[in-house]
Amino acid sequence: MRIAMIGSGYVGLVSGACFAQLGHDVVCVDKDADKIGHLRRGHVPIYEPGLDRLIADNMRAERLTFSGDLTNAVSEADAVFIAVGTPTRRGSGHADLSYVYAAAEEIATAMRGYTVIVTKSTVPVGTGCEVARIIRTVQPDADFDMASNPEFLREGAAIEDFMKPDRVLIGVESERAREVMAAIYRPLNLIQTPIVFTNIETAEVAKYAGNAFLATKITFINEIADLCEKVGADVHDVARAIGLDGRIGRKFLHPGPGFGGSCFPKDTLALAHLARAIDAPQTIVEQVTKVNNARKKRMARKVIEFCGGSVAGLTIGVLGLTFKANTDDMREAPSLDIVPALHVAGAQVVAFDPQGMTEASRLLSGIAFAKSAYEAATEADLLVVITEWPEFRGLDPHRIKQAMRQPRIVDLRNIFDPQRMRDLGFTYEGIGRPLKKRNERQSTSLGERSAPAEVTIVGN
Ligand SMILES: NC(=O)c1ccc[n+]([C@@H]2O[C@H](COP(=O)([O-])OP(=O)(O)OC[C@H]3O[C@@H](n4cnc5c(N)ncnc54)[C@H](O)[C@@H]3O)[C@@H](O)[C@H]2O)c1
Repeated sequence: MRIAMIGSGYVGLVSGACFAQLGHDVVCVDKDADKIGHLRRGHVPIYEPGLDRLIADNMRAERLTFSGDLTNAVSEADAVFIAVGTPTRRGSGHADLSYVYAAAEEIATAMRGYTVIVTKSTVPVGTGCEVARIIRTVQPDADFDMASNPEFLREGAAIEDFMKPDRVLIGVESERAREVMAAIYRPLNLIQTPIVFTNIETAEVAKYAGNAFLATKITFINEIADLCEKVGADVHDVARAIGLDGRIGRKFLHPGPGFGGSCFPKDTLALAHLARAIDAPQTIVEQVTKVNNARKKRMARKVIEFCGGSVAGLTIGVLGLTFKANTDDMREAPSLDIVPALHVAGAQVVAFDPQGMTEASRLLSGIAFAKSAYEAATEADLLVVITEWPEFRGLDPHRIKQAMRQPRIVDLRNIFDPQRMRDLGFTYEGIGRPLKKRNERQSTSLGERSAPAEVTIVGN
């Protein structure tokens, strides 16, 4: 199959490279000429484990090319995938579909012969229908079918998710489009991937429903973590106890500072707004967005309270800035709420992130960046873990302790073992793993350079 991928961002690049790996001829198109230039020279502009290698292999095999010329790519293609961004519309919670519709117009003028137009971007129900209308308006005789093929990959594990998905979801309206889509995904039959065919509206709704459900699960365990902190329970044990119930499942029950990223925040918001507009309110999802936004803001207060009510004059080392590990994506990252609030409260923030600092330096002002986690800890009065990068788990706590002015850690991802940290002499607070003798903790200000309070931490 000849595939044109319109939009070469996280989804377009991964999908394009993976389709090429499955044996198809793929042209990845982007209107960002710099991006295309980098890709042609073999520089992958995003960090996604394994992607540079996959792209290089498929460029060498001449199955994958990059172009700024949409017309040529589309006119040759059997299937055109739209993988452009659908951010939140400025001033409203709705999805901004202007990139999708602009791409549809360009595609319409370029199409030659029968083509399947596939929306891979996450789009509200009804968008496939609108794209078809645009194409018919621009080229009334166009020979095409629409399909919806939402993408479920996770940044950081995107290639594995694409090549070994739990399922592939395809919305189609015609047998001919179904055959083209089945042919594109046929190589995945070898690993018996379930391919779920539905109509287009169902596929569009299912993508939002899936993301909303996962966002709800995260928010649920985050609130249970708050409860655990008040009553002396350990949220990890609670998560395990409920997650072993097959009806609930263990995934997405890890508490943290609130979800961020390029999908959950905007997709929950878009679903809630669309649903209200058509009088089918999704009140649970509405509440999830509110609770999550409030949580991200509250995390800075948690840090300040840990420091006895003030961080003025303190040096705070921050570990991790990206919205999750194994990506350089900073979109809606909790760090974007937490770090500025600490800065405004008078702290000097020194941050380290293995991949996100270039993007973070564009988004965060007034903070310093360190070259390593140890450098971020040096002379710090407090260390705050915001992103769960695997390499942070392997840090030498003795070295960290030696480097710090005060051995204190607020671990918003629970990557460290509380008991071990306590035994090593750290004053440590995680999420939903309460201090047994909370009342006995001295409400000392780190600014006073007081000795670490002796605390007992429940949990393992
Ligand atoms: N990032 C994820 O993990 C993920 C996962 C599943 C689904 N999605 C969805 O996939 C879509 C794309 O997300 P992303 O993270 O890849 O976005 P992105 O912002 O990283 O990439 C979008 C790309 O499209 C390009 N573009 C925009 N208009 C264009 C046009 N007319 N012609 C050519 N190129 C054009 C932009 O220059 C940009 O490079 C969104 O709808 C998103 O919700 C994202």
